[in-house]
Amino acid sequence: MFRPSWIEIDRAAIAHNIIEIKKRIPQALMAVVKANAYGHGAVEVANIALANGATMLGVALLEEAIELRDAGITAPILVMEAQFPEYAGVAAEHDVTLSVFSADWLREAKAYVTERPLTVHVKVDTGMGRLGLRTRAELDALLDAADDRFDVEGVYTHFATADEPDSPLYYEQQKRFSQLIDGLIPRFRYIHTSNSAGAIRMAGEDVPYNLVRVGIALYGLYPSSEMASSYAFLKPAFTLKSRLMQVKTLEAGQTVSYGATYTTTADEWIGTVPVGYADGWIRKASGFEVDVAGVRCPIVGRVCMDRFMIRLPHEFPVGTVVTLIGGPVAIDELATHLGTINYEVVCQLTSRLPRRYV
Ligand SMILES: Cc1ncc(COP(=O)(O)O)c(C=O)c1O
Repeated sequence: MFRPSWIEIDRAAIAHNIIEIKKRIPQALMAVVKANAYGHGAVEVANIALANGATMLGVALLEEAIELRDAGITAPILVMEAQFPEYAGVAAEHDVTLSVFSADWLREAKAYVTERPLTVHVKVDTGMGRLGLRTRAELDALLDAADDRFDVEGVYTHFATADEPDSPLYYEQQKRFSQLIDGLIPRFRYIHTSNSAGAIRMAGEDVPYNLVRVGIALYGLYPSSEMASSYAFLKPAFTLKSRLMQVKTLEAGQTVSYGATYTTTADEWIGTVPVGYADGWIRKASGFEVDVAGVRCPIVGRVCMDRFMIRLPHEFPVGTVVTLIGGPVAIDELATHLGTINYEVVCQLTSRLPRRYV
């Protein structure tokens, strides 16, 4: 690795988060490692999660599940995004569980499930308005269509507002789900509704569901600022660092970067940091502050494709470490600056930034 910019993932923090979550909830834990484990590295995180109490993995794509299988991971894996029926056989061959929501899908998939049965979880839409069946009639039809080529192992739904403590929709979705599966609980090995926010809200409640799907909290991040106090036990695992590549003075009246949007007002120390929008460090980060040896320094001018400039209070040696995310620079602070959420920040930083595990 030649470039002096990298993402550091703290393995111990991820292990700590899983252990602490497990202490609070009796349900089995599915570690959600889709999108390269929210940018943290799918295989690494999956192994840490499984070693610390997770018993199942959740991904979005069949490709993501196969990547885990190819890495030697044998734990059950649920693909939560829909897949077209022609890939049912590939999923079965890799012992990967798919999410399904219509009898027609099962009927079409039968032609492709030849060698071994396909395990599926039924996805119910109780208010998210995206994937899932919505009525008991649809659920009954799906169960009727399942022959011995399918193991209908689970049923689940996903909350739209579990991270908003005052939202009535959260309770409404719970009610719709329990009505829809009324009388069917013994029919399924796994029944699950909760993401990170829902899992913590459910802690201590006596619910008949036996699995939770935890993503963002594994990584030590809060599902929403309203829930931060319930998650004070989490440790963030993600740090983005780089090193000053050039340090120079620009005299008063000089401009910095494309569009010449920043003009120095006096002699100023300007440092160049080799991370840019091709790494997912997008132009909206202009104006944000990064940390240089304990000093907050503003990004001046526009972020370029491969680098950006900061104003330093004084000269720093070339090679000084710059922290863009983590430690003194909270990821939620950056998310607020970018007008987004922590989930999007960790997912948008590309594979051009190498991940180092510490
Ligand atoms: C269906 C489903 N379950 C669980 C999760 C995990 O959510 P969180 O990261 O909020 O825990 C996601 C993430 O988007 C999801 O789509």
